[in-house]
Amino acid sequence: MVFKTKKKLKLLKNKKYSFCTCGLSKKLPFCDNNHREHNLKNKTNYKSLKVIPHTDIEVEVSSSTWKN
Ligand code: FES
Repeated sequence: MVFKTKKKLKLLKNKKYSFCTCGLSKKLPFCDNNHREHNLKNKTNYKSLKVIPHTDIEVEVSSSTWKN
Protein backbone atom coordinates (compact mmCIF):
# COMPACT_ATOMS: atom_id res chain seq x y z
CA MET A 1 0.00 0.00 0.00
CA VAL A 2 1.41 3.42 -0.96
CA PHE A 3 0.63 6.36 1.28
CA LYS A 4 0.41 9.63 -0.64
CA THR A 5 0.71 11.87 2.39
CA LYS A 6 2.83 11.69 5.52
CA LYS A 7 2.64 14.35 8.17
CA LYS A 8 4.84 14.82 11.23
CA LEU A 9 2.98 16.12 14.26
CA LYS A 10 3.70 17.06 17.84
CA LEU A 11 0.90 15.89 20.10
CA LEU A 12 0.52 17.21 23.62
CA LYS A 13 -0.03 15.15 26.74
CA ASN A 14 -3.70 14.73 27.72
CA LYS A 15 -5.02 16.72 24.74
CA LYS A 16 -7.71 15.02 22.68
CA TYR A 17 -7.09 14.83 18.92
CA SER A 18 -9.56 13.69 16.27
CA PHE A 19 -7.98 12.28 13.14
CA CYS A 20 -9.82 12.04 9.84
CA THR A 21 -10.36 8.52 8.51
CA CYS A 22 -12.56 9.39 5.52
CA GLY A 23 -10.20 11.70 3.60
CA LEU A 24 -12.80 14.47 3.18
CA SER A 25 -11.57 16.86 5.85
CA LYS A 26 -10.26 20.24 4.72
CA LYS A 27 -7.85 20.28 7.68
CA LEU A 28 -6.14 16.91 7.30
CA PRO A 29 -4.92 15.01 9.16
CA PHE A 30 -7.58 16.23 11.58
CA CYS A 31 -11.32 15.66 11.29
CA ASP A 32 -13.53 18.68 10.51
CA ASN A 33 -16.78 16.65 10.62
CA ASN A 34 -17.22 16.54 6.83
CA HIS A 35 -17.72 12.79 7.27
CA ARG A 36 -21.18 13.41 8.76
CA GLU A 37 -22.72 14.77 5.55
CA HIS A 38 -20.93 12.10 3.51
CA ASN A 39 -22.33 9.38 5.80
CA LEU A 40 -25.88 10.72 5.41
CA LYS A 41 -25.66 10.93 1.60
CA ASN A 42 -23.84 7.64 1.05
CA LYS A 43 -25.03 5.49 3.95
CA THR A 44 -21.45 5.06 5.14
CA ASN A 45 -20.26 5.04 8.73
CA TYR A 46 -17.01 7.01 8.84
CA LYS A 47 -15.97 8.31 12.24
CA SER A 48 -12.89 10.15 13.38
CA LEU A 49 -10.09 8.38 15.24
CA LYS A 50 -9.67 9.84 18.75
CA VAL A 51 -6.19 9.99 20.28
CA ILE A 52 -5.23 11.21 23.76
CA PRO A 53 -1.45 10.92 24.32
CA HIS A 54 -0.19 10.08 27.82
CA THR A 55 2.99 12.07 27.14
CA ASP A 56 4.05 14.80 24.72
CA ILE A 57 4.97 12.89 21.59
CA GLU A 58 6.03 13.32 17.99
CA VAL A 59 4.34 11.07 15.48
CA GLU A 60 4.23 10.58 11.74
CA VAL A 61 0.77 9.86 10.39
CA SER A 62 -0.46 8.80 6.97
CA SER A 63 -3.52 7.33 5.33
CA SER A 64 -4.30 5.96 1.89
CA THR A 65 -7.62 7.90 2.00
CA TRP A 66 -5.84 11.28 2.22
CA LYS A 67 -5.37 12.91 -1.16
CA ASN A 68 -2.80 15.58 -0.18
S1 FES B 1 -13.90 14.56 8.21
FE1 FES B 1 -12.99 12.62 7.83
S2 FES B 1 -13.45 11.49 9.60
FE2 FES B 1 -14.28 13.41 9.99
